[in-house]
Amino acid sequence: MKQDYRLIVIGSGISGLFVALESRKLGPVLVLTKGSIEDCNTAWAQGGIAAAVGPLDSPEQHLADTIAAGAGLVDVAAARVLCYEAPSRIRDLVEYGVAFDSPGGELALGREAAHSRARVLHAGGDQTGAAIETTLAAAAATPGITILDHTIATGISTAGGAVTGVEAVDLAAGEGLSFEAPAVVIATGGAGWLYSHTTNPDVATGDGIALAYEAGAELADLEFYQFHPTAFRGDGAPPFLISEAVRGEGAVLRNAAGEAFMAGYHPLGDLAPRDIVARAIVAEMRAAGSENVFLDCTVARGVDLAARFPAIFAFCQGQGIDMRSAPIPVAPAAHYLMGGVRTDTFGRTTVPGLFAVGEAACTGVHGANRLASNSLMETVVFGKRTVECLGEAPRGAERDPRAIVDGVDGGPAPGHGTLQALMWDFAGIERSHEGLERALGTATGWANSPARPTREWHELREMGTLARLMLKAALLRTESRGAHYRSDYPEQDDRHWARRQVFRRGN
Ligand code: SIN
Repeated sequence: MKQDYRLIVIGSGISGLFVALESRKLGPVLVLTKGSIEDCNTAWAQGGIAAAVGPLDSPEQHLADTIAAGAGLVDVAAARVLCYEAPSRIRDLVEYGVAFDSPGGELALGREAAHSRARVLHAGGDQTGAAIETTLAAAAATPGITILDHTIATGISTAGGAVTGVEAVDLAAGEGLSFEAPAVVIATGGAGWLYSHTTNPDVATGDGIALAYEAGAELADLEFYQFHPTAFRGDGAPPFLISEAVRGEGAVLRNAAGEAFMAGYHPLGDLAPRDIVARAIVAEMRAAGSENVFLDCTVARGVDLAARFPAIFAFCQGQGIDMRSAPIPVAPAAHYLMGGVRTDTFGRTTVPGLFAVGEAACTGVHGANRLASNSLMETVVFGKRTVECLGEAPRGAERDPRAIVDGVDGGPAPGHGTLQALMWDFAGIERSHEGLERALGTATGWANSPARPTREWHELREMGTLARLMLKAALLRTESRGAHYRSDYPEQDDRHWARRQVFRRGN
């Protein structure tokens, strides 16, 4: 059965819902989501959304911080768009009904690592993502937007190189579906589930990125995966982030011996850039032979922790920890993919009619290391601009003439229980030639898993495709920069590597 739409959006987080809402005036919009509507990274985002709206702040200062965090690889034009358009997009979200915390009528602005100003707006304390997701989901329940949940996209259809629609599977019925539209937006978020330890929900398997690649789009910056320093670490505990905003309020990391250690690693101490904090924690864990370090919140004086961080407080209580009096066991976990489907600043990929927004996309705005809370903001800034060009005749972004044209290798499909462990061990916080090469051989097999109409099999194939490219990108970049740390090439090498890597599929 074929059905026609003006636009198909794959993914139901902030990127997908915002684009659907903003574009519904152009014609019928279909949103496909493989879980239920609120199964997305957005709903788990705690810290907030960055915008230079404070009296002592400016977009230029926000831009400077974004560039500094990105370790020499930020696309400055894209970052300028992000930082200058951010305040207007906050106004849009407020118009949709997002209630940012404003005690006494003044917007509360939190502080996170590597920001030189307090500029992180939040809602419900540490429930910013959930507040945005709930608000946009309610708004999207409107004529003109059809949302199909438990429906997984399995292919982007093209004709003459341009997008014509999406192939999907209704997971409940096990039935194949075909939808036609002249424009498709990939808004499927990130890929934390490629790793054994992550702050992401289980839908974050990178499928949209792999689908775009298979449809001919270019992917960029795949070697840059951000590991959040402080995920809760406890036996049998589910993935759970302990927001950087907790350190922004004064909490301090301590090693197994109870010593505060970050001052010994970076002048910004506990609020140093994430890659530095994550590696410092790994070094402390290794030295002590421990599985975690501790986040001591008892030193966050004058902060009502239960009120400021209600979700974290409740989670810790559920794990038997009162964060007001006891330290929280934490360790790094996979958090955010800086790379993704290469787009221009209007969400255009290199395939006409195919767009990407949010974590699945790569405008180059984050470079080698994302500044905290720029991720929610990029979704609405570049989502708005994507909608601006949906009315035009579809045309793709320019291809990168230096793209690495990548063949599809052969190889058997092994069982999938070890993919995450493989990525964690060999493409995690520290990488080396030997480990990456070993992992690459195995990931290639996953990419060749047989297609079957179940979510698990589809995810396995797409995770294999993305893992293979991430490993290749990490193997090729023989230096350390931002979130990509090679133990065999520990220095940044600007002479050879002040450039981005782009992949395009060969025949
Ligand atoms: C956090 O709350 O620590 C995460 C925010 C982000 O990743 O931008």
